[in-house]
Amino acid sequence: MGLSNLGFSFWVIFFCSFSLSRDVVDASHQVFSHLQSVQASSVTHRYRTGYHFQPPKNWINDPNGPMYYNGIYHLFYQYNPKGAVWGNIVWAHSVSTDLINWTPLDPAIYPSKPFDINGCWSGSATILPGNIPAILYTGIDPSNRQVQNVAYPKNISDPMLREWIKPDYNPLMAPINGINSSSFRDPTTAWHGPDGHWRVIIGSKKRRRGMAILYRSKDFVHWMKAKHPLHSSKNTGMWECPDLYPVSISGRNGLDPSTNGKGIKHVLKVSLDDKKFEYYTIGQYTFQTDRYVPDDTSADNSTGLRYDYGKFYASKTFYDSGKNRRVLWGWMNESDSTISDINKGWAGIQCIPRQVWLDFNGRQLVQWPIKEVESLRQYKVQLQNRVLANGDLFEVKKITAAEADIMVDYQLGSLDKADTFDPTWTDPQVLCSQKGANVQGSIGPFGLLVMASSGLEEYSAVFFRIFKGQHKPVVLMCSDQSRSTLQPDVDKTTYGGFVDVDIEDGKLSLRSLIDHSVIESFGAMGRTCITARVYPTIAIGNEAHLYAFNLGTETVKITNLKAWSMRKAKIY
Ligand SMILES: *[C@@H]1O[C@H](CO)[C@@H](O)[C@H](O)[C@H]1NC(C)=O
Ligand SMILES: *[C@@H]1O[C@H](CO)[C@@H](O)[C@H](O)[C@H]1NC(C)=O
Ligand SMILES: *[C@@H]1O[C@H](CO)[C@@H](O)[C@H](O)[C@H]1NC(C)=O
Ligand SMILES: *[C@@H]1O[C@H](CO)[C@@H](O)[C@H](O)[C@H]1NC(C)=O
Repeated sequence: MGLSNLGFSFWVIFFCSFSLSRDVVDASHQVFSHLQSVQASSVTHRYRTGYHFQPPKNWINDPNGPMYYNGIYHLFYQYNPKGAVWGNIVWAHSVSTDLINWTPLDPAIYPSKPFDINGCWSGSATILPGNIPAILYTGIDPSNRQVQNVAYPKNISDPMLREWIKPDYNPLMAPINGINSSSFRDPTTAWHGPDGHWRVIIGSKKRRRGMAILYRSKDFVHWMKAKHPLHSSKNTGMWECPDLYPVSISGRNGLDPSTNGKGIKHVLKVSLDDKKFEYYTIGQYTFQTDRYVPDDTSADNSTGLRYDYGKFYASKTFYDSGKNRRVLWGWMNESDSTISDINKGWAGIQCIPRQVWLDFNGRQLVQWPIKEVESLRQYKVQLQNRVLANGDLFEVKKITAAEADIMVDYQLGSLDKADTFDPTWTDPQVLCSQKGANVQGSIGPFGLLVMASSGLEEYSAVFFRIFKGQHKPVVLMCSDQSRSTLQPDVDKTTYGGFVDVDIEDGKLSLRSLIDHSVIESFGAMGRTCITARVYPTIAIGNEAHLYAFNLGTETVKITNLKAWSMRKAKIY
């Protein structure tokens, strides 16, 4: 308490002398030009993560160019070397052999040439024939135009690929022929079609229509814009960080970006600059016409499917040829204020990488934390067949509740008792806000109270509610942060998503990765995911507790609960 009060008065003084007004809106980030080069005098450890990726200090955002190359995973990310707010962006670089423990290297790409002198923004890696990695990224040129550039490793024999060179024939793609030069960024991994030509898409918009502009190339040097975008959707605004990749209609294996044909579907994900969240569709990508057509199983706009219904943005996947899987990285933004970020000396983390595959019904993706995270599991507690009646709450003791992995399997009773679902409830986030963890129902709310103080002054609730729908039960998953901290100046939005799962047998599961200020939750084995950032003032470190609860009038049985204390990962 004392500390935060001190911090607060310090920053009030700071506030007065440096005006914290929003100076400019540049791309998708608020730009505080007076603050973006203010070095942290010290870094506050209170909310730092034990096993989620973050550098020692300063601001980070989008994961960039993730790849697996000659046995090493590379993660680049947008980084401000000079402060804890967005600005001065370079491509920071870390390498790993397990996607969990990391070795930091010097920044790989930073402004140095006319075609990127005003910024090196997001992009992706492509492994070219002959096993040559290439990075496509957005540079900001002297006229503040967004252009697309390529970079290659300086020394392909260096296993860490420390240094990158940018050929003078950059930029490869410039915003001409009607492309808005402020809305042209974030090239994907390139793929090649049956004609042997490369293709890549770039996020853009035309008025309110979001789009993925398509380029083709024979040689990776000369690129031609296709007549039509690969895909676009009306009224969605700017598409940032598009991602297009093939998924198999059966099994969990990942596919190389250029795979297409029988038994393959494609996923197109976009980050909505206007909404600050992402959505994706599953669809058919036809190489011959270079058109992507989403299936009609979900909406092709902000009401569509999301990887994550919480704090998760600017994500990117890569094909991990080492383990034959597709892996998803996403940026988890802070939910506290800019002043708090400067005060704590850092902002932003990356999610635990998730393996993604197509659900057996073909309607959505399934995501699961990569297996390697389980190597951090230490002490374990387990209990079985514990019945939770209405109002029951019990503590899961003996583990480090602020740094934990917890998995719960539930067995529900008769679903006939469920409350009736009103078909006008189309927005799960609104529904979760109205029916928070304290609102009694029939089946649910039941779930976990995490990052909770022993007196329950502070807690976050991750829980389910089951409703009786017209044709089948409706499962709602919520992450309620409304009581997560006594601090006022924090975004405490309650998040929610529907869970597309068959629960006629009454079985449902929940997993949460808890890491001090992170709660990353996976409902029904990864069919719905919600990430939240929390900043408790009491439930910190050893003062954080974990509980299981049920506030539904119907009894719920925990058939199996496993919880592990997690070790810290080696990240820097
Ligand atoms: C390239 O990297 C290899 C392996 O680290 C090293 O032995 C070699 O000296 C490097 N070559 C140059 C030109 O730096
Ligand atoms: C181009 O995009 C910028 C950034 O979103 C926007 O402010 C501007 O109005 C757009 N220009 C046109 C001509 O659409
Ligand atoms: C999203 O698309 C659906 C059709 O798939 C439409 O009914 C709905 O109105 C759209 N919503 C928005 C916010 O554009
Ligand atoms: C990041 O979080 C801050 C604080 O909650 C918010 O103002 C901003 O819009 C967020 N940005 C994105 C891209 O999510």
